[in-house]
Amino acid sequence: MSRQLINEYRAELDRLRAVSGSRRESVLREAFKDLLKRWGRQQDLQFVPEHDIVTAQKNRIYVDGALLHALRVPFGYWEAKDADDDLDAEMAAKFRKGYPNDNIIFSDDHTAVLVQDGHEQMRVAMDDTDALLPLLTRFFAHERQEIADFNKAVKQFAADLPAVLEALRTIIAEKRKASKDFAKAEAAFLKHAQDAINPAVSADDVQEMLIQHILTEDIFAKVFDNPDFHRQNNIASELYKLEDKLFARGEKSTLLRALAPYYSGIAATAAVIQSHSEKQGFLKGLYENFYKVYNPKAADKLGVVYTPGEIVRFMIRSADWLCEKHFGKNLIDRGVEILDPATGTGTFIVELLESFRGHGDKLRHKYKEELHANEIAILPYYVANLNIEATYQAITGQFAEFENLCLVDTLDNVDALGIHAGHQFDLLGSLTDQNIERIKRQNRRKISVIIGNPPYNANQQNENDNNKNRTYAHIDKRIKDTYIKASTAQKTKVYDMYARFYRWASDRLGDEGVVAFVTNRSFIDSRTFDGFRKCVSKDFTHVHVIDLGGDYKEPGISGASNVFGIGTGVAIAFLIKTRKKEKNTTIRYLAAPNVVAEDKLSWLSHARFEDHAWSVMSPNSEGSWTDNRSPFPNNFLAIANKAVKSTRLSP
Ligand SMILES: C[S@@+](CC[C@H](N)C(=O)[O-])C[C@H]1O[C@@H](n2cnc3c(N)ncnc32)[C@H](O)[C@@H]1O
Repeated sequence: MSRQLINEYRAELDRLRAVSGSRRESVLREAFKDLLKRWGRQQDLQFVPEHDIVTAQKNRIYVDGALLHALRVPFGYWEAKDADDDLDAEMAAKFRKGYPNDNIIFSDDHTAVLVQDGHEQMRVAMDDTDALLPLLTRFFAHERQEIADFNKAVKQFAADLPAVLEALRTIIAEKRKASKDFAKAEAAFLKHAQDAINPAVSADDVQEMLIQHILTEDIFAKVFDNPDFHRQNNIASELYKLEDKLFARGEKSTLLRALAPYYSGIAATAAVIQSHSEKQGFLKGLYENFYKVYNPKAADKLGVVYTPGEIVRFMIRSADWLCEKHFGKNLIDRGVEILDPATGTGTFIVELLESFRGHGDKLRHKYKEELHANEIAILPYYVANLNIEATYQAITGQFAEFENLCLVDTLDNVDALGIHAGHQFDLLGSLTDQNIERIKRQNRRKISVIIGNPPYNANQQNENDNNKNRTYAHIDKRIKDTYIKASTAQKTKVYDMYARFYRWASDRLGDEGVVAFVTNRSFIDSRTFDGFRKCVSKDFTHVHVIDLGGDYKEPGISGASNVFGIGTGVAIAFLIKTRKKEKNTTIRYLAAPNVVAEDKLSWLSHARFEDHAWSVMSPNSEGSWTDNRSPFPNNFLAIANKAVKSTRLSP
């Protein structure tokens, strides 16, 4: 099988040489990259092009490719060089810069060199199939004991967790009856959660929060090797207090003994990951994995999935470009306040901080005052808190609490909606609680950019799946009065979570600003979103949509082309609201290349917003916003497009 992959690689090389007539590294390396991808796929390794690592010297480097385990732990790396380069000199220079040396292939047109555990293991000619095969076999056979143990522990964890959960729930119920002190503390926490997160939070939800806290506190400490990392956090410290009242001495460690292999697997794996950004990746993977074992339905409802870095960085680059173009300011500039309303593991804030590297005081000010994030669930809230604070510390060398992270239900936090120029803010409120103070502070701010990946039920195929989202009085009424009112569809129901987030964000912006969301793509052409499209055309001055496709309904398209690995197609939208209204809103559409997900992500990592030929769609059209790229009919009607013309984005 592996020899066959090498033969395919040879054939592809010949084809590329014939087609391009070129021997240039940039053309030929694609074939080798494909070989690594395909071989990796056989071992459930994901190939990530331009993989970024922050080195021990705190430099961000981009390795040409990395193969990652499912939990985002790196397996091996690849770096390609030009045939004209001196390969040995280049390798030495890269290692000085902090490139990983545990399992890496360097290649140019002629030679491939395998370095493992700091030593050169093999050096072969690229056109010698007999030699290339053992080199690649050795590369792909490299396995750290820690990772093997960890993979075993993860499987065991899934088997053992239900019994531990059951025991935890029983202990909590008994304690509630036996200890007034505990019951009182739990009730106080519930009150706080209802005030801050949303009024529908129940005693069961608080119990689950406490359980998640108990099960994961060690994980965070271990991954970042800092036992006190989130003791300072206002929510975590309240949960610690509750936990202290719950367990008698030694009770906790006895209870969690069954999960010990999992925790020690995490500690051992975390110890082999050197770089800060890879630790973050590991934590994100771990969190997703944990949640799916712990509560798969909640994972689906909340949209527990992290956003690939390529998408996040593309959205930040583009939002920056759009802000400069329409408002004459960049994201780093004073007065541009940015909010991620569904922050998950904090990826958008982390990447924003990374993009502000080198801006010294401006960065400090942004972090303290002008970057905001909301999260509803305790675990991602913790992960975001850790990731954001660790990133700030890695960039500036100083620890500072990230005070603008709120544990809140964004959609229930409606006090700052519909605010326009001249509005007097209500500054009332004497509650001293820190989280509530944070929410109020955020509500007093004029937000210019709302960016993120709001949730949608990726796996819920229909209403009968019994995993319904709760209702939101204010937002649902706004949807009824706007998207639904403007719709001509008969049974219109636009209460999808992501539509609610669009409604919320459109109302939160005030007079001007940018909304940048990556979501389900159905708003582009589904019949039920016709009212949504009309309202967005009214609320905003410019609309840009990038269709990332990947819907399971698309003929000939498999899950492999979806950037989130889900069945629902994906799109990125940039909605721009300016004070000065144009006569007609311009709607521009761009389809990503119809390729496998890895290649779409690679395309996004190079894509520059301003360089593409966008299709200009007819404004206020009732029809879809596509240029008929997607041949699949939507559920109800196939809608004919009005004339579409192509344009390069004119500033
Ligand atoms: C798709 S994830 C965000 C992923 C994030 N960009 C990342 O890379 O980790 C959506 C997040 O929104 C959170 N969420 C869902 N509903 C929310 C709500 N009403 N208010 C605030 N956060 C919410 C979920 O808990 C989840 O963490």
